[in-house]
Amino acid sequence: MNISVFGLGYVGCISIGCLAKNGHTVTGVDVSETKVSQINSGKATIIEKDIDLIIGEQHRNGRISATTDFKKAITGSEVSIIAVGTPSTPHGHLNLDYIFKVAANFGEALKEKSGFHIIAIRSTILPGTCDKFAKIVEDTSGKKRNIDFAIVDNPEFLREGTAVHDYYHPPLTLIGSDNTQAAEKLAELYKELPAEIIITDLGVAEIMKYVNNTFHALKISFANEIGNICKALDINSHEVMDIFCKDKQLNISPYYFKPGFAYGGSCLPKDLKGLQTLAHDLYVQVPVIESIDKTNHLQIERAIEYFGQYKSKTLGFLGISFKAGTDDLRNSPSVTLIETLLGKGFDIKIYDRNVQLSRLTGTNKEYIDNHIPHLSNLMCSNTDELVEKSDVLIVTNKEKEFIEVINSIENKPVVDLVYLDKSLVNKEGYYGINW
Ligand SMILES: NC(=O)c1ccc[n+]([C@@H]2O[C@H](COP(=O)([O-])OP(=O)(O)OC[C@H]3O[C@@H](n4cnc5c(N)ncnc54)[C@H](O)[C@@H]3O)[C@@H](O)[C@H]2O)c1
Repeated sequence: MNISVFGLGYVGCISIGCLAKNGHTVTGVDVSETKVSQINSGKATIIEKDIDLIIGEQHRNGRISATTDFKKAITGSEVSIIAVGTPSTPHGHLNLDYIFKVAANFGEALKEKSGFHIIAIRSTILPGTCDKFAKIVEDTSGKKRNIDFAIVDNPEFLREGTAVHDYYHPPLTLIGSDNTQAAEKLAELYKELPAEIIITDLGVAEIMKYVNNTFHALKISFANEIGNICKALDINSHEVMDIFCKDKQLNISPYYFKPGFAYGGSCLPKDLKGLQTLAHDLYVQVPVIESIDKTNHLQIERAIEYFGQYKSKTLGFLGISFKAGTDDLRNSPSVTLIETLLGKGFDIKIYDRNVQLSRLTGTNKEYIDNHIPHLSNLMCSNTDELVEKSDVLIVTNKEKEFIEVINSIENKPVVDLVYLDKSLVNKEGYYGINW
């Protein structure tokens, strides 16, 4: 394929080298004449293992060249990859000036090009940027998106220091687009790579890099805070984290990674508080760990705020224990939610097959007696009774029987706090708390 790559910095240099090595003819474009002449002399523009060799070899093969002439590069290629910088502004916003400058370049060049052109943004951009980019191209060129050109987001996951290796061994290849044909054409560029190619919506692809990098930063900071606590206790933190990583069921796994409601129960809140207090007593600051409980409370508040619109209605709760399959009410976020809503004067009904009030004992009974002493007056004995007596249904745990109940409901809003089942998402009147 004839490809043009905009930006000959880190990502651009790796891209032109590796794409050429995979058999494509690549033209690099940069505003820096120095970088352009480096490439045209067969030299890499960056210091990185193996890239000098690749650029030299592919330059000799005639597969790599560079230019400052964007029009020539765009008209001479069918696919363009954008890898210009997207630095932070002094206030922390993303500076997209280089990206939009390139968009204007495309507008200029596409005015004069007759064939269909695919523009793939490899730079890290915020959600909505591809649409703005396409608008600039349309306004400048008079051409139409998805008729004359298509835009694709194709985020880069390489790390400096191992960039060539990472290019050939990505965790996955992500392509976001509103144009399947363009997405599939771009996917061809990566078909040799040993990684799954995922084609998805533009928004999903655009936010992914931020989700990944924020999580990576969170991992590092979490490990550092654990290390700091361990050090203060003379415990081997590396052994701790090595063992932590061996748990592939709950720790290093998709488990818990589902947007939904607040955590609760008898363990997570208690043990989190225990570690926080331990750190405090050791004079170790743990702001990441301390923020977890705050964000958990915000999730409950988010639900409370949402229910404000149903003030005069009867809210029917499907579940009150902290998760499906248990009658444990201790620190259940649903108990906090219901207690707060009752305090605000809401009329509430509850069904939970696991919670039989006469059978509650010990700290579990004590907990609910302290928080909702008149719980028995609110309970329904079956789902039919709950549905009949309620105006709005609220799902608070993933009990399987609730799926059928929700599917059978007509003309009543359903608020799902836990992503009960994928199949419900398109149901009329269904609202998910964070999806
Ligand atoms: N460096 C990394 O490890 C890495 C990894 C993944 C993603 N990214 C993302 O990729 C993008 C590029 O990062 P980088 O590190 O390669 O940046 P960089 O600063 O090394 O290179 C950017 C290049 O773009 C050129 N440029 C600027 N305006 C231009 C224009 N109008 N036309 C042509 N070229 C132009 C600059 O001269 C420069 O050579 C950023 O969005 C970055 O966040 C970087």
